[in-house]
Amino acid sequence: MDRYELKILGWTGILLTIFLVAVLRGVQKYAIDVPECIPYDDSFTEPKIVNLGDSIYQIFVSAQMWNFEPSEIYLPVGAEVDFYLSSADVVHGFHIADKNINMMAVPGGINKASTKFTKPGIYPIVCHEYCGSGHQHMRGEIIVNHPSKK
Ligand code: CUA
Repeated sequence: MDRYELKILGWTGILLTIFLVAVLRGVQKYAIDVPECIPYDDSFTEPKIVNLGDSIYQIFVSAQMWNFEPSEIYLPVGAEVDFYLSSADVVHGFHIADKNINMMAVPGGINKASTKFTKPGIYPIVCHEYCGSGHQHMRGEIIVNHPSKK
């Protein structure tokens, strides 16, 4: 092995280490929670918002042409939410603006992701997967600390 090869190998090792440290640092800093695919259960496809107390919620969202059910979700500041996502027809997307939530809604599958809403505001939900002629109108909203629904 000549010196040039050794140099390249050394730099490759350094860059890989920087990359890994950056990924781990990102996971830690932004508390990234990777979406998971959980075993299919019919009861998870029924749209509902379950308040477990202490600002802990389970929200079961069903995506369908061309809306989300529930489409308006009211939460208090500090709400910790587990989203369970399913689709009633075709593949849809589910992205919550300003949050690390970006999932696919797949018929016959349940995807789960968790987040915490620490700031009041309106968080739009958009479908980011082309799902037919009404795709661009497919949206929902999460309203955190709405004055009339505390
Ligand atoms: Cu649903 Cu695009």
